[in-house]
Amino acid sequence: MSDAVSDDNSTVVLTDVTLATMVAGGQPYGLIEDGVLAISGDRIAYAGTAADLPSRMQSWPSESQHGMLATPALVDCHTHMVYGGNRAREFELRLLGASYEEIAKAGGGILSTVSATRAASEDDLLDAALPRIDSFIDEGAGTVEIKSGYGLDLETELKMLRVARRIGRERPVRIETSFLAAHAIPPEYKGNADGYIDWIVREILPAAASEGLVDAVDAFCETIAFNPIQVATLFDAAVKLGLKVKLHAEQLSNMGGTALAAGYKALSADHLEYLDEQGVEAMAANGTVAVLLPGAFYTLRETKFPPLDLLRQAGVPIAVATDCNPGSSPMFSPLLAVNMACTLFRMTPEEALAGITREGARALGCLDEVGTLEVGKRADIAIWDVETPAELAYRFGINPLARRIFGGNV
Ligand code: NIG
Ligand code: FE
Repeated sequence: MSDAVSDDNSTVVLTDVTLATMVAGGQPYGLIEDGVLAISGDRIAYAGTAADLPSRMQSWPSESQHGMLATPALVDCHTHMVYGGNRAREFELRLLGASYEEIAKAGGGILSTVSATRAASEDDLLDAALPRIDSFIDEGAGTVEIKSGYGLDLETELKMLRVARRIGRERPVRIETSFLAAHAIPPEYKGNADGYIDWIVREILPAAASEGLVDAVDAFCETIAFNPIQVATLFDAAVKLGLKVKLHAEQLSNMGGTALAAGYKALSADHLEYLDEQGVEAMAANGTVAVLLPGAFYTLRETKFPPLDLLRQAGVPIAVATDCNPGSSPMFSPLLAVNMACTLFRMTPEEALAGITREGARALGCLDEVGTLEVGKRADIAIWDVETPAELAYRFGINPLARRIFGGNV
């Protein structure tokens, strides 16, 4: 990030706006009343009080925001929004008493989405995913992470990642991809998880990486998925390719995956309901972000809470995301994730909003570009028809977005 922005021919000054800059360390929410935002090209040229607007920007065209609130465009750092089919039947089964693990062991769950995703063409997957991303954009998202992981074979994993990249070309949104072939054991490798990891490392990951489809490598460390040794084998391969890692860890049980991931300087460890103190310390020591996913907690009616107080005390950065997926979190609303992070996990509205802006960006390794309203960052901005930032966390089922600016374009 540069600290100065050269004037672009497309400049605008947004006046009469309250800024929740989400810059840490000062006012709560980085709040600036009587604020002004100046945009030059795709960059923020000024974010501060009206009184201090640099004189050369005072002649730029201006637009009043009528006292509304500006935040960074939202950053959802954990979704699985490219998939075929849906899992409404599984939802019914769970309400008739089956557990998420039982359904997975019986070949349903993730594997039922795998069958539908393999059967779908690239265009079908794109057509199904566009309304999903639109619902995020309509709620002010500017950056969204999308994982593979419903292919579990060479062809379909690459197909999913190509669709994720195409979403970023078809819609005004930045997409970060995560390679999640180690999400479940495919039917072809039943009872042979080691063999599947070997195939991923030898063929699938190198192919995906060489096509430029992988921004980070993810895995699911769990009794119904992969153990820490298998995850380490995958992470070693990722490191050799120069790729960052992250992990679904401690969601249903404590496998020690978080500490392992932190040892690889993982960008994030996600879910974390069963995380222990040792895992928290490992995250703190390595700068690994804790990504909390209240939609999955809610859908699975989990009763064990992620150790929020331990994470706070250790100073671990905490992000919040939707986990948008067809099974454990069929949620298409980032604002609902913010509300649930407060109501279910007892995060403060400031923590939750930071979790889906600044900390979400940190979890994706793109805090230099997005996540706060600061000079030099991308002009990805959400303008809300609310008076205070806490209102974004407090209501649910209503969308107060007035306008979204993406790369300087309304
Ligand atoms: O983040 N935990 C594993 N993966 C997903 C669930 C995916 C699915 O059920 O389809 C999650 O919750
Ligand atoms: Fe997930």
